Amino acid sequence: MWWLSFAQASSFAPTQATKIAAEWDSLYKFLLISSLVACVLLIGGMIYFVTKYRRKTKNDKTPYISHNSMLEFIWSFIPLVLFLIMFAWGWSLYHEMRAAPSNSKEVHVYGQQWMWQFEYKNGKKLNNELVVPVGVPVRLIMTSKDVIHSFYVPSFRIKQDVIPGRYTDLWFEAEKLGEFHVFCTEYCGLDHSKMLAKLKVVPLDEYEKWLATTVELTGGPGAQIYNDKGCVACHSLDGSPKVGPSFKGLFGRNSVIDDGTEIKADENYIRESIVNSTAKTVKGFPKGVMPSFQGQLSEEDLTAVIEFIKNQK
Ligand code: CUA
Repeated sequence: MWWLSFAQASSFAPTQATKIAAEWDSLYKFLLISSLVACVLLIGGMIYFVTKYRRKTKNDKTPYISHNSMLEFIWSFIPLVLFLIMFAWGWSLYHEMRAAPSNSKEVHVYGQQWMWQFEYKNGKKLNNELVVPVGVPVRLIMTSKDVIHSFYVPSFRIKQDVIPGRYTDLWFEAEKLGEFHVFCTEYCGLDHSKMLAKLKVVPLDEYEKWLATTVELTGGPGAQIYNDKGCVACHSLDGSPKVGPSFKGLFGRNSVIDDGTEIKADENYIRESIVNSTAKTVKGFPKGVMPSFQGQLSEEDLTAVIEFIKNQK
């Protein structure tokens, strides 16, 4: 039957990579098909009656109709049953989606303009990449360092707002190996559309081996700050301009700033750009976007970052 093949066509939706994704799709299809049937009955019936009972002559009189109890009962009872099914189905699925199993592996998630940061129990941190084991429930404990973001994994059919000043959570159990997209789905400023992350699902033994190896950041304490404070979100190391200029070859270079003067990037210029970030903006880059790091970095931290930038030749 045509509606069955329609119900089975999943090509419009992303891969179903969790059990919940398949259940979610079934509910969605039920809603879609019952709405479609209701729409055809209502609009089709309306068009039919408008043509059939239209006024044909000037002397046509509207017949007197009071009511029809049976008809009224049917058109109330059928929608009632349908709505109750939708409610019960949706409620049980929602409950399943919200209650993380107690054996879940926990990962902390930080949203910030404009990147995702993931932190594991053993202190391992990753930017814009989340690695999880297949077939094991994972619970994400999420918060934001600035504005509201939203963590969305289409293939898992899960989404949750990430809010500054509080924790929200989300859980999933990946059934498929591979890489999946993570999107930010709450407009959070200039580079919202680029706030993407990769979700990698790997076999459990591979995951455990990976987790045990610590990430060696080459470049000393400055590199650590570059990652942790989120400089990485806007300043690349490979020369490609992002929201701000790349750090590659930045030190000692002359740049034209927004008021037209040319300025050399020395230690003091970089310091000012970090603590008093809106003072000078390099021409061609958006003004006033960089947050101020006044009070957030110690003198030692500032030195470390400046040394780190110096090394990006
Ligand atoms: Cu973060 Cu949109």
